[in-house]
Parts: sequence; C-alpha cells; structure tokens
Amino acid sequence: MSRRLHSASPLRGSIVVPGDKSISHRALLCNALAPGQARIDGFLPSEDCLRTMDCLRAYGVGFDYDPASPTTVVVRSPGRDAFTAPDRVLDCGNSGTSMRLLAGLAAGLDLPTTLDGDESLRSRPMDRVLQPLAAMGATVKGRDGDRLAPLHISGGRLTPFRGALQVASAQVKSAIILAALAADGPSSIEEIAPTRDHTEILLRAMGARLQRTPLDGGRSRIEIEPGAPLHPIDLTVPGDISAAAFWLVAGSIVPDSEIRLLGVGVNPTRAGVIDILTAMGADITSDHLRTVGGEPVADLLVRATDLHATTIDGDLVTRAIDELPVLAVAAAVAQGRTEVRDAAELRVKESDRVASTVAMLRALGVAADACDDGFTIDGGAPLQGARMESRGDHRLAMAAAVAACVAGGPSEVVGDESVIVSYPHFWRDLDVLTQAPTQTAQALA
Ligand code: S3P
Repeated sequence: MSRRLHSASPLRGSIVVPGDKSISHRALLCNALAPGQARIDGFLPSEDCLRTMDCLRAYGVGFDYDPASPTTVVVRSPGRDAFTAPDRVLDCGNSGTSMRLLAGLAAGLDLPTTLDGDESLRSRPMDRVLQPLAAMGATVKGRDGDRLAPLHISGGRLTPFRGALQVASAQVKSAIILAALAADGPSSIEEIAPTRDHTEILLRAMGARLQRTPLDGGRSRIEIEPGAPLHPIDLTVPGDISAAAFWLVAGSIVPDSEIRLLGVGVNPTRAGVIDILTAMGADITSDHLRTVGGEPVADLLVRATDLHATTIDGDLVTRAIDELPVLAVAAAVAQGRTEVRDAAELRVKESDRVASTVAMLRALGVAADACDDGFTIDGGAPLQGARMESRGDHRLAMAAAVAACVAGGPSEVVGDESVIVSYPHFWRDLDVLTQAPTQTAQALA
C-alpha cells in the first residue's frame, strides 16, 4: 500500500507519544524471568512488541492482553526456572530486539529454542550475539556460518562473560546481561560507546545484583552477579522518544508549527535527537520532568524555526541511532552541509539506512551522498514532491512523511503500512496535527 501526502499546513496540537518500544520489549521479557504477576501500563502494542509477547508464550508465560485496551498488559509467569520447551519456532517477525534479547534469554535455558524472522531480519547480522553467547558456553547455530537467522540455541550451564563488547549495541549488551543472569559466576561487560540502558534499570528494580561503573565517553562497565531472586514489577512505560522524533523534526521545519509532546522518555542514552536538533538551532523546551518506570520523562514543546547544518558523530550517533533518517530530513531543510559519520550500524538496520535515506533525499531533489559510515547532505534548497520507497522500513516511511510535509508538491510514501512495527497510530497522529486526512492508495507498483 502507499499513501499520498501534500505539503502540510502548520502542525499544531498535543500528542501523547506512544509507549517506548525498547522498554515495552524489556518489560515483557524481564518480567517473564520472575515468577508471579506484573502489570504494564503504557505498553506499545506494535507488531515488534507483540512478536516478543508471542515468543514468550512458547515458554509457558501467560499474558492478559486485550486488543480493545492494548496499552495494558498483565504478565503471568511461572518464572524462568519453570519455563517449558517451545514446541514451535519463535517468529520474531521484523524485530531485531526480539531476536537478540530472546537469544540471550534462550542461552540461559536448557531448552532448545529456534528463533526466526522475516526476510529483513534474516539478512541482519546475528554473529554479534551468537559469538559472545557461544563463548559463555551456549550451543548456538545459525545460517551462513552462524551469522544469520534462523538461530538454534540451547544452554543452561554458562560461564561468566568478562570483557568488552565488539559492537556499540544495546541489543547485544542486553542479550549478554540476560545470559549472565544464568552464569555460574559474576560477569563484567564493558561498553565501547554509550547505548540505551533500559535493561539495566529494569533488572535492578526487579532485584538483580547489577552494578554500573561510569567510564570515559559516557560508557559504562556493567557487573552482574547471578543468583539474586527476581521479583516481578508493575510499571508504566514512558513515551517513545524515537516516535516523538518525527514530531520534533516536523514541528521544527514546517513553518508556524507548534507541537506539545506529552510524556516523552528523555533517558540521556536516548536523547541525542534533542541535543542534535538544539545544536541545529531548533526551539525545543521541556518541562514537567519526572520519573516514570524508573526512567526520566518530560513534556516537550517544539516550535518551528530556521535550522542550520551540524555534524553528527561519536556518541551522538549511538544516542540517536534510530532517529538518523528523520534527522536527515531536518538536515535537508537546514542551511549548510550536514555530515553524519561513525554510523556504519545504519547499514544493518531494518533496511540499509545509509542507502535508503540517501535515496529518499535524492528523490526529494536534495544533494546527498553516502559514504561507508554515514552520509553528507547539502541542505537549504526547496524540496520537491516525490515518490518515496520505505523499503519495508518503518522509520523510513515516517521520515518520508515528515519530508512530504515541507515538499513543494504532492508526495507518495510506498509501503506506508510498515509503521505498524513501531508506531501503529502514526498516520492518525499526522492527520490530527495537520488537521488534514492523508489518503491511502494502492501502490502504483
Ligand atoms: C534497540 C537498540 C538499537 C536500536 C533498536 C532498538 C534496543 O539497536 O537501533 O531499534 O531496544 O535495544 P542496536 O542495539 O543494534 O544498536
């Protein structure tokens, strides 16, 4: 399917941002480890998070989930020690977080598990998680030299992990932490760049013996001593800053816009998008800072203003990794040359986001060039209406929609349904903010 869009009138109004995807996954997964019952409010009922829920059911974990009130979930678990062996392949769909975190969980179980996913997920690197789990003593097998899904994992008798991560990835870090809970001694994990720390925050709140030592450059060392009993924990999931990012950019670049975003998670390991837009001259203010689910949360107000170019590299990249496609749209409108570097990880996301972002910008008439680890954008010229391919990538589809809001003519986003992966109500929220319904159409193929 595709969607036709016209350049927007100002975006105005308030949005309650949907629940954080990363935290929603972890709220299910971590609570499943502990025997008992936990209530999750503010859950993100997106396709990715529902995949995690379905996979955990295969181990005997129960969920009260009513699609009529999908933001509340009750987890009822027998606890990890009473899990039953899955009698089916665990289908992670499009979700890298499901596959990599479940790989870490499966490594700590003496229950053979097979994890699989869609075509995109089957092409994404899994050796980054299989290798450390194998080093801890898990039996792992994947396709193409243990690089790709489907993955076959069994374990249960693990040795500790001690060392540095090979990639700046919260998914890999979290997989090792989950496995470390089942190891026969204390583990120590050193980050090579700061990555989201939601797993650490949640497991500590559940009673895990997990210490964090700050290192240089915002990195941490995480030490985990297994054996402490985990207890389930009720929590409210903060709003997803990765979803808010689309409105932060749209509100900045569509003239006369003013958008209030309510309940946005502003954990510093995730808030790079605010820092980057602020460095570009954006008018973003925050208030009502509070703690929700152990995480910092604020309301944000964004008002349109002129942006200028910036450089995005180093830890800004890991702190805004999922926001780079929509930040590229901001850079296309900003005056001057924006450089994104140190972002080779973009090449192994739901699409190759270096290639797909540059293709989107070029369709809009923007001068953009790819390099191995990022892209260069010469911004400031008017954008032309374009037919933009999401390549099945949810964040590309939404970034393209934001670009369409400022393009000089009608645009079309092909593959608009992919938003269901992380932001099922994206199109509705766009309609609310622009007060103009968008039109779906069959893809022109
Ligand atoms: C995520 C971590 C990031 C991010 C992904 C969600 C998580 O991936 O891109 O959308 O929930 O841990 P990496 O860990 O591969 O960087």
